[in-house]
This record gives sequence, C-alpha cells and structure tokens, in this order.
Amino acid sequence: MKVAVLGAAGGIGQALALLLKTQLPAGSQLSLYDIAPVTPGVAVDLSHIPTAVEIKGFAGEDPTPALVGADVVLISAGVARKPGMDRSDLFNINAGIVRNLIEKVAATCPKALVGIITNPVNTTVAIAAEVMKKAGVYDKNRLFGVTTLDVIRSETFIAELKGLNVADVKVNVIGGHSGVTILPLLSQVEGVTFSDEEVATMTTRIQNAGTEVVEAKAGGGSATLSMGQAACRFGLSLVRGLQGEQGVVECAYVDGGSEHAEFFAQPVLLGKNGIEKVLPYGEVSAFEANARDSMLDTLKGDIKLGVDFVK
Ligand SMILES: NC(=O)c1ccc[n+]([C@@H]2O[C@H](COP(=O)([O-])OP(=O)(O)OC[C@H]3O[C@@H](n4cnc5c(N)ncnc54)[C@H](O)[C@@H]3O)[C@@H](O)[C@H]2O)c1
Repeated sequence: MKVAVLGAAGGIGQALALLLKTQLPAGSQLSLYDIAPVTPGVAVDLSHIPTAVEIKGFAGEDPTPALVGADVVLISAGVARKPGMDRSDLFNINAGIVRNLIEKVAATCPKALVGIITNPVNTTVAIAAEVMKKAGVYDKNRLFGVTTLDVIRSETFIAELKGLNVADVKVNVIGGHSGVTILPLLSQVEGVTFSDEEVATMTTRIQNAGTEVVEAKAGGGSATLSMGQAACRFGLSLVRGLQGEQGVVECAYVDGGSEHAEFFAQPVLLGKNGIEKVLPYGEVSAFEANARDSMLDTLKGDIKLGVDFVK
C-alpha cells in the first residue's frame, strides 16, 4: 500500500505522517508532499523510527512525484482557521489549492482513494468531484470528505459525560462538516439515554468543538493533533478495506446517492474499490430529523459553491 499525504509539513500533516509511519501495515510506503521546503526533512526525521514503512518526502510546486502509484491520498494542504473565522472563510484560499492538487491526482493516480481534510470540507469535496469529472476520471466510490474528527469528538465527549469506557462508545455523525451540518445521532448510542437538555447541549458542543480548539490555541491554528489521529483512523480504514478486510465501516462525507443532498456524511462500508456500500444511517429521533432537515439549505449552498467554483 502506498499512502500519500499532501500538506504533510503542516500541523495535521506532520501528526498524521507520524501516526501512519508507526501504524501502517509492514511493507507500506508513505509519501509526504508539501510546498514547504522542510518536507523532505520531515520524512528524514520520521525515517529514523524503526518500522517497516518506507517514507519519502517531496517539496516544491509539483506533487506528481509523491503521487505516482498512490493507493490512498490524504489532503490537508491549505490554511487553517484563526479565532473569529468559520470554515467558510477559508474558501477563497483553499478552493484553489484543492483544485490544483486534485488535477494532479486525476492525472497521476486516478484510481487512488482520496480523503479530503482541507476545509471547508462541505465545499472542497464538491470541488474535487467536479475537477475529476472534468478530467473524466470521477468515481464517486473513491472520494471522501474526512469527517472522522466529528466522530471521535462525539465518542470522547459522550464517554466523559456518561462515565463510559470510550472504546465501547460508537456514534454515527451525519450531514456535513461545519456548524449545524454536523449531526451526531445521539439517540442511537447503545446503552445510554440523554435528557432533552443533554441532547441539545451535547449536539452544540460537538458542532462547535473545532471552535473550542481554535479559541484555546488563540491564533495558533485549529485542531491538528486530534485531526491527525482522526485522519489516521480513517486512512487506515481505507487501507484495511483495500486489503480485503471485511466489515470496515466509517462515517464519511460522500456522493452516496443520499436523498438529502448530493454529498452527505453517513456510514459507508469500505472495500477493495473504496465504498462497497453506502449504509443507511438508521432511525433518528424527532430532534435529529428536525436538525437534519434544517441543515439542508446550508449544506446544499456549500456544495453549490464548490460546483460553481470549478465551472
Ligand atoms: N476535516 C477536518 O475535520 C479538519 C479539522 C481540522 C482542520 N482541517 C483543515 O485542514 C487544513 C490544514 O490544517 P493545518 O492545521 O494542518 O494547517 P497548517 O497551516 O498547519 O498546514 C497546512 C499545510 O499546507 C501546506 N500547503 C499550502 N498550500 C499547499 C499546496 N498548494 N500544496 C501543498 N501543500 C500546501 C502548507 O505549507 C502547510 O504546511 C485546513 O484547511 C484546516 O481547516 C480540517
């Protein structure tokens, strides 16, 4: 398996690269790319960790050498939020970065599974899809918006609130990846009940958890270490699916034929071709149905912005 990380010198990229270097299956290759000149050095640094994962770093304007033969591409290249910004404020810079990188992915490794971390994910995934359509290589089963951070945050916060072993807490998070479009399905968490007030407070906390980190870092960036962990979990799940493991399921923001929007986050079964099957997200409470329906205008607007940007 060859995994490429684009944006690998950044806060997320370096954390992700470290975790992949230590957790990818033996014999894998890890390829790091960033415009920052330090990137080959990041790879040299990581290469001293004794695991059977071969690592190479590439810097400069062209990601192509990092992408040759990639099975999985994880993209965190771009700018991150500062206090007072929401994810849509990143659009002007990150839209062009994602478009340019996906053009290279389409030309170099069109069959790779691509996970987009760069915000605003609701929009950058739509941009990636349009670029791939233009290049004639779009396969909806191979493109993912990485929403795993919303899932791990939900697991952590619920375990804390209810005094549970976090390893036992499983939560589906549906919709998108910003503000009200992040919808944790608390009603489905096994063995736990929430009061109406807890549901409202917990849902809001999960939706605003990114801002919690942005404010705590006070101008020093957004979530990087927890996102590195989330992206590693998702990337390893993609690899496990590609290697034929059965029953690998993750929530992700995908073009899965949802009745709600062109792209929608929900559980997907992963396999040798990316998405084997988009899974139903199950029964929802009245609160969740209302939150889902109320987010759709925002989500569709975010998607349209991406489609229009490429067109
Ligand atoms: N999906 C999520 O849940 C989630 C969570 C947190 C952050 N993010 C997003 O991830 C992105 C990265 O965040 P970060 O904290 O790592 O930022 P960062 O500024 O630390 O790192 C970004 C990296 O991208 C590189 N870069 C910029 N333009 C590039 C290009 N054209 N090609 C290659 N590399 C390029 C920069 O040199 C830098 O090293 C941001 O857009 C952020 O909003 C997503």
